Amino acid sequence: MNDFQFKNTTDIRFGKNHIDTELHDAVAKFGSKVLLTFGGGSIKKSGLYQRVIKALDGLEVTELSGIEPNPKIDSVRAGQKLVQANDIDVILAVGGGSVIDASKVIASAKFYQGDPWDLVIDSKKRADLQQLPIVDILTLSATGTEMNQGSVISNPATNQKLGTFGPNTPAVSFLDPQLTYSVSSWQTAAGAIDIFSHLTEQYFDQGANDVTSGLMEGLYRAVIKNAPIALAEPDNYDARAALMWSSTMALNGLVGVGTENSWTVHPIEHELSAYYDITHGVGLGILTPRWMTYILNDATLPRFAQFGRNVWQLTGADEQVAKDAIQATYDWVKSLQVPTTLPGVDIKDDQHFLAMAKSAVQVGQLNHAAFVPLEVTDVVKLFEASM
Ligand code: NZQ
Ligand code: ZN
Repeated sequence: MNDFQFKNTTDIRFGKNHIDTELHDAVAKFGSKVLLTFGGGSIKKSGLYQRVIKALDGLEVTELSGIEPNPKIDSVRAGQKLVQANDIDVILAVGGGSVIDASKVIASAKFYQGDPWDLVIDSKKRADLQQLPIVDILTLSATGTEMNQGSVISNPATNQKLGTFGPNTPAVSFLDPQLTYSVSSWQTAAGAIDIFSHLTEQYFDQGANDVTSGLMEGLYRAVIKNAPIALAEPDNYDARAALMWSSTMALNGLVGVGTENSWTVHPIEHELSAYYDITHGVGLGILTPRWMTYILNDATLPRFAQFGRNVWQLTGADEQVAKDAIQATYDWVKSLQVPTTLPGVDIKDDQHFLAMAKSAVQVGQLNHAAFVPLEVTDVVKLFEASM
């Protein structure tokens, strides 16, 4: 097992209705000036906004609304102005990954006098800056942002979508599965595939060990089982709860301790989202089975066979189990009723394939750090296989 350091200080409040009794104090302990961030209006429709405002009674609340899916740098710029002008003490982010991701960068940008895009292209700058505490109320199970340091921010002017890491995870995360009952089937499926992909990026890694592999296999099985249940019964508490806790556990650092390789499918998908603004999890669902097929060889076969046996509960000879596991992955994505090809998300020609492949290889260090190294031509082939 490789050496590792693991520390995660996020205070998790999991379960029903904790916000009504605990949110005020969780926020107020950091100060009275609060920036409330949210997205395009789902929290107003669901009534969550009104509950939050009630819970914040007595605090000075400034709002930043309209943070979009695949959050754009302009939202972060708007947030930077608000936190500086109002000398904000704490950010309360209410929404999915996009709202929380943007809020984390705004939390750093309060202490930065330049353009916050600088903090995205060079995360190291954030290590030397203070960061406002984040309290969040998660409304969509997918990214793991509720318990990690990451954010992914898009810049439409440059066709870039890049990850950036701050010094801290959220201070407090409220995880109430009931708040995800209203998530659309499209976003529920995309979120489940995102969780599956986070596991895959860490499972297919030369540094994974028996402990982390076993944890991931259990999480995989929970997501595979509960995503269809949540689609069929959107208000099934246990299914929503399993997805929510899987989301958090898949990407809070725990199952990734000791890993060695950089991620592969995420940097490739981020190019699709950067150029075409597609839903992250849907893009991952299209690419993942193709990538698995592409990298299956004698060296990776034992890992695929383990994946097939312990995740998909398949039996038989290694080669057959490996192939069947990839097919099972494809079939599961398809069963969630999202597109499984690029034309299905309106990417109908190859005009950007080369540019996207070049950027993915460079940003993701795919040609030297990936589980199976990929060159630009390999990534183009993956896009072509997805048509
Ligand atoms: O904007 P509102 O109106 O809130 O609607 C959102 C949005 O349209 C809606 N939604 C959220 N909660 C809802 C709801 N609708 C009804 N009821 C609810 N309870 O869902 C839509 C998508 O929301 P978004 O926040 O974009 O989804 P998600 O949580 O999947 O986040 C995706 C973003 O996170 C990044 C992705 O690249 C993408 O930009 N990622 C962040 C990571 C991280 N920070 O660690 C890792 C991931 O790999 C990922 O890259
Ligand atoms: Zn993801």
